[in-house]
Amino acid sequence: MQQFSEIEPLRAELKTLAGVKVAFVPTMGSLHAGHLALVRRARELADFVVVSIYVNPTQFGKGEDFSTYPKSLVQDILKLEEAGADLLFTPSDEVIYPGRGESSDGGSCRVELPAVSEVLCGESRPGHFSGVATVVAKLFNIVMPDISLFGEKDFQQLHIIRRMVADLNFPIEIVGVSTVRDSDGLALSSRNEYLTLEQRSVAPELYRVLCWVVGEVKQAERAVAEIEQDGVDMLQRVGFEVDYLSLRFVNSLASVVHLNSAAQYGKEELVLLVAAKLGSTRLLDNIHFDTIS
Ligand code: PAF
Repeated sequence: MQQFSEIEPLRAELKTLAGVKVAFVPTMGSLHAGHLALVRRARELADFVVVSIYVNPTQFGKGEDFSTYPKSLVQDILKLEEAGADLLFTPSDEVIYPGRGESSDGGSCRVELPAVSEVLCGESRPGHFSGVATVVAKLFNIVMPDISLFGEKDFQQLHIIRRMVADLNFPIEIVGVSTVRDSDGLALSSRNEYLTLEQRSVAPELYRVLCWVVGEVKQAERAVAEIEQDGVDMLQRVGFEVDYLSLRFVNSLASVVHLNSAAQYGKEELVLLVAAKLGSTRLLDNIHFDTIS
């Protein structure tokens, strides 16, 4: 696996690949089986696989875990070689945001997707999705891949990136890859390593409750808000602080208010999303499924 941390040598190398289908997997490192599933899928879909590892400061808010975000570059490199990545890009802050913080003109260009960035995770993490969209746009312009792969665990992020690619005419196909779970159902996340042993034993309840709520929704016998509230109560009882648990339309992320009206949409898909904290660790999960039968 080749490694680059500067833009120009990376571009020069990628230029030699004319006619080769390039897949790109952006990550923040601390790689787990979920990331490796993205790399393996990329390997199946393209001829050349580029991975980036960059902990992007602009997507972390004040008081969030930017400075303590887990890092394991040596192990990450071994895992990527094993999974079949061809090239690793590990830029510094200076490469991605040259002169950041020094400009007196109000700062540099940012990608904003209003509305869709302000709901769900965006409500409690203002600026987060602008930071994600900005760095992904920069990385796309640096790597210029044919396809790029993202995990479905970060469902709102995937939605926002698809939207950005459509709105800004990036000639890149976005591929979502299914969430990888531990044997007890917990969705894999680099942040799972923050959990204490006791919290780790409670964490799988998140997926169990999601499955229960989806079962209730499919029966379509009760109001959506009532079912969502039952899910929140179940999570709170086992020690979660729930940020949201919300049923949405996949295509718009708009709230589903009435199950009957959801059914009227015919083939529209729904997604049940949750964000909840155990101690100071914020966990995300979701289940997407076809409309109520
Ligand atoms: O999902 C992540 O790891 C990050 O949000 C991403 C897409 C690499 C952007 O920093």
